[in-house]
Amino acid sequence: MTGKQTCTKKWMALLLALCICILGIAGNSVAASAAARTAVSSLKLSVGSRNVTKKTYSMDVNEKASVKVTAKPSAAGKNAVFKSSNSAVASVSKKGVVTARKAGAANITVTVSSKRYQRKTTWVTIYVRPEASKTPDTDTPGSGNPDSSLHIKEQGIFSAGGTIITADGTFDPADQWEETGAGQTLHADHANVLYQIPENETGLPMVFLHGYGQSRMGWMTTPDGREGWSDLFLKKGHSVFLIDQPRRGEAGSSTVSGTISTKPLEQRWYTQFRIGKWENGKSNPNEGSQFPNSDQAVDQFFRQMTPDTGMSSDMGSDFDNETVAKAVAAAIDEAYSRTGKNSILVTHSQGGGPGWTAARYTQHIAAIIAIEPGGAPDAQSEDFQAVLAQKIPVTFYFGDYIDNGDPAIQATGMWQMMRQACYSFSENYNAGGGNSTVIDLPKIGITGNDHFLFQDLNNDVIADHVENWIQGNVSTDANSGSNASAGSNSGSNNNPGNNPGSSNNTGNNSGSGTAASNKILVAYFSWSGTSQKQAEAVAAQTGGELYRIERETPYSTDYNTVAYGEAKDEADANARPPLKNPLSSVSDYNKIVLCYPIWWHTAPMVVGTFLERYDWSGKTIYPISQSASMSVSQYEESLTFIKGCAKNAAVDAGLFSRNDSDVTAYVSGTVLGNR
Ligand SMILES: Cc1cc2nc3c(=O)[nH]c(=O)nc-3n(C[C@H](O)[C@H](O)[C@H](O)COP(=O)(O)O)c2cc1C
Repeated sequence: MTGKQTCTKKWMALLLALCICILGIAGNSVAASAAARTAVSSLKLSVGSRNVTKKTYSMDVNEKASVKVTAKPSAAGKNAVFKSSNSAVASVSKKGVVTARKAGAANITVTVSSKRYQRKTTWVTIYVRPEASKTPDTDTPGSGNPDSSLHIKEQGIFSAGGTIITADGTFDPADQWEETGAGQTLHADHANVLYQIPENETGLPMVFLHGYGQSRMGWMTTPDGREGWSDLFLKKGHSVFLIDQPRRGEAGSSTVSGTISTKPLEQRWYTQFRIGKWENGKSNPNEGSQFPNSDQAVDQFFRQMTPDTGMSSDMGSDFDNETVAKAVAAAIDEAYSRTGKNSILVTHSQGGGPGWTAARYTQHIAAIIAIEPGGAPDAQSEDFQAVLAQKIPVTFYFGDYIDNGDPAIQATGMWQMMRQACYSFSENYNAGGGNSTVIDLPKIGITGNDHFLFQDLNNDVIADHVENWIQGNVSTDANSGSNASAGSNSGSNNNPGNNPGSSNNTGNNSGSGTAASNKILVAYFSWSGTSQKQAEAVAAQTGGELYRIERETPYSTDYNTVAYGEAKDEADANARPPLKNPLSSVSDYNKIVLCYPIWWHTAPMVVGTFLERYDWSGKTIYPISQSASMSVSQYEESLTFIKGCAKNAAVDAGLFSRNDSDVTAYVSGTVLGNR
């Protein structure tokens, strides 16, 4: 038997183990088939020498601690699988040794299962203290994680937009308590905007718009008093413009009268916002939740809610989208006149609606980041067309408990529908030449988030992800409404990995703006041969040129090493390992068939290295993928990854199949048929 055959046999056995683990992590399959098994009735954790009772543990940078698992029945504890939600903050080894790497928060989840025992998962949240503020361990999250103090160059507050109504009649200046209003004015329906410009302003301004029942406060702090997104993004070099929309908070002056409801409805919102279940008079968050669930924090959370002065419905159904959109556009124009830069508009929930409409009233939106919006406009709508006409890059973020939410909670299905509308938006937007992505956080290993993900315990982790998206997708060109992906000049994108000119490639590899010939490139990555076989068949069918994507340092041929070491580390770190044999140019091709396996729920990171190296303007990528579990959601995650990496490319919905005849049909129908 050759070395390769020995390795393949071992790999098959280990692959089976991986599949069991992956299916377990992915969802219901293991639990469903495990009815006859003994449940793991208790699962306890200790970190260092202490039992974890509060589910939190504070560590200093570079400190190590062992997570120990005690499970009943005891044999179940022997096969624990550890995973970190944020390895950059705290990584965890196969044996449960946690290493604190940098300030922030990470969830370490531990899953225990075996053939005889039903799967059970528990977790501990690790807070890594900032180096400057090391204090004796108190097991408390502390008041934020300032990496450095914040220096504000300028701040202030102003009103933007709005209207003035003047009553009929004549105002008599001598009648100082005139009460009919005759001839008097009302300034109303404006936005109130609090702004801060950091000393070290390196990025574009960010304009934040809250959702239903909220005000700007939700962006400024968290229920447990940590730093809100406004501080986190100020520290990343963005000025912030925090809106109280017309008829809310400090912009209470309204041209229509509303009814301020006194109806107690807090538990309704708590449940529909996917925090958990309210049982026995207490907050009972979902398993693995990132909601800060102390009694004081829950109290503070509810006190953030604030009514609208111009609505009568306590469901927000008489929300005045148009009025809010105009005021938001006015705030963005004002941000432009104060900073000379276009703004990144960040919306939440019901704020999503006026976010799209605002594009009809201003030319100064650099990007839209929609956090769990209540849907997205369809491709025929005026709002969609207004956003697309300006080629505004768009991204959506969704938290957890949507696919895996309790079906008894009515909102579980509602969130699935809302997210689906955003997937459809993205598809149509990309097909129309725009750039849009849906970030489904659990699919990239960031779990436990509810509707208020920017306030959750890992709000810094998500802020880092958002900042990466900005770096990769939004032009910092201050005066243009154009964006990095739609523009022809990739050099204006400040993502170094995305600038073809910066590669050490010898060829003329930009491809930007040059007319490509009709050649097809069949690029593939394959570890154990399946994608290679598919790619070879595609090349034979199309006459395309084959190109193998290889890591500079080859991946190990040992399955355990590649699966749980190299590939997992790279996926956790969202790494871009260097290529062995980069193409000097892709300018000759206009169609790229990309074959790859699913690795850790997405494409192998080295595929990202390949895609980020070139400018794909005017080219279409046709993904073909397959995996052990054939989980469609993992394939979708890989598509999101590809769209994020392949700047300016049109990315087809592709094919996810292991079946040879499917590949042949897809190539002749879509790749060659160009439909
Ligand atoms: C490092 C690694 C990670 C993997 N991760 C996943 C995964 O997340 N989901 C899955 O269904 N299969 C996963 N697999 C299985 C591969 O997708 C599957 O074996 C595929 O057929 C391999 O394609 P290839 O022969 O072209 O390498 C993984 C395999 C490896 C080696």
